[in-house]
Amino acid sequence: MTTADTQTLLGRLLDPANRADPYPLYADLRAAGPLAVPSANLVVFSAFADCDEVLRHPASASDRLKSTVAQREVAAGAAARPFGAPGFLFLDPPDHTRLRRLVSSAFVPRVVKALEPGIVSLVDSLLDAVEAKGEFDVVADLAYPLPVAVICRLLGVPLEDEPRFSSASALLAQSLDPFLTVTGQAAQGSEQRLEAGLWLRGYLRELIAKRRVEPRDDLISGLIAAEEAGDQLTEDEIVATCNLLLVAGHETTVNLIANAILAMLRHPGQWAKLAADPQRVSAVAEETLRYDPPVQLVARIAAEDMTVNGIAVPGGDSMLLLVAAAHRDPAAFDRAGEFDPDRAQIRHLGFGKGPHFCLGAPLARLEAAVALSAATARFPGARLAADPVYKPNLTLRGMETLSVAI
Ligand code: HEM
Repeated sequence: MTTADTQTLLGRLLDPANRADPYPLYADLRAAGPLAVPSANLVVFSAFADCDEVLRHPASASDRLKSTVAQREVAAGAAARPFGAPGFLFLDPPDHTRLRRLVSSAFVPRVVKALEPGIVSLVDSLLDAVEAKGEFDVVADLAYPLPVAVICRLLGVPLEDEPRFSSASALLAQSLDPFLTVTGQAAQGSEQRLEAGLWLRGYLRELIAKRRVEPRDDLISGLIAAEEAGDQLTEDEIVATCNLLLVAGHETTVNLIANAILAMLRHPGQWAKLAADPQRVSAVAEETLRYDPPVQLVARIAAEDMTVNGIAVPGGDSMLLLVAAAHRDPAAFDRAGEFDPDRAQIRHLGFGKGPHFCLGAPLARLEAAVALSAATARFPGARLAADPVYKPNLTLRGMETLSVAI
């Protein structure tokens, strides 16, 4: 494949026109094999075996500053970390291990299970409102408000402030799209995103100051207590951790719930089957994480020269792993393009793999299970009312609206 052909394919990846159905494009990318763009210090993987291998590889790093491109920019005078400390998603050991450990106990299945009664009653009241209205926009009425309320409660962020930070969170989600990596140019609106990031950090800093004076039973107060106990945690790191959890809680589970509802409604019988048998719900959620994953790609840096299933990746290169393409890889899955919660074994990289495996997976699974079983039970005759409308995001791809007739 020529460099021009590679650039054309990667350009299509960034094009929002491909958001509603990116899967034919992913098939083209898979067929083209791993794509190396030496001029951009970039390799793009889309086969399941390759993505899986990179996530498990000891030379795969998550700190973007380790990339040749970032090193070059810093050498040219760019700020190394314009927001301050990064969230631990973008760090490597030992900082990654230290920061992740501080919050991990709040997200283990046993602790998350205790949130279930609150989640059930929240879902019930959201569905009561839908029933009263007689109209159902899955995103605005259920899939978004549920995880947002839960993460705000966990962190200790007042829900009444939500309208102020929801747009900042949405802008930050867009900053995960690899425009710079692929094109060498920042995407349009990057100044606005930088501003949103700084604003959200300022907001969190104010909240931390309040909790310092008056601690509560929430994660922010817990992190402050760890800092004050001399756990070698800086205030900048508390801000970065809260920022990561808040954005992760806003921009991911919403898309698992909405994508699962869309997949069921597009596959005759799936909605009714779940309505009749709530035990199916975890298979529906896991198959959605494979078939139409909320996180479509993840990125890594080669910390040193490495080989991925025979492909040489020079140290300092960025690697994009097109997980959503890997999930439809016929070399890894029978009937890869079919949504089938009854398949014998559902495997996926929807929550990542290895040391950065999604911390929020037990929470996301619980929220999705409650929302999907309640929605199907409440509205057994639901059907799609219109084609869904997608946001432009590539990495955290999801719908803006999903209208369902109840
Ligand atoms: C369906 C919903 C979700 C999906 C599909 C999802 C997906 C992912 C993926 C793919 C990663 C790995 C990224 C990488 O390896 O570079 C990740 C990491 C992470 N997720 Fe989630 N996530 C979801 C929900 C949540 C929620 C609700 C939270 C917490 C509030 C959360 C917190 C995190 C954190 C903190 C990390 C970083 C872990 C680390 O670096 O050690 N996620 N998530």
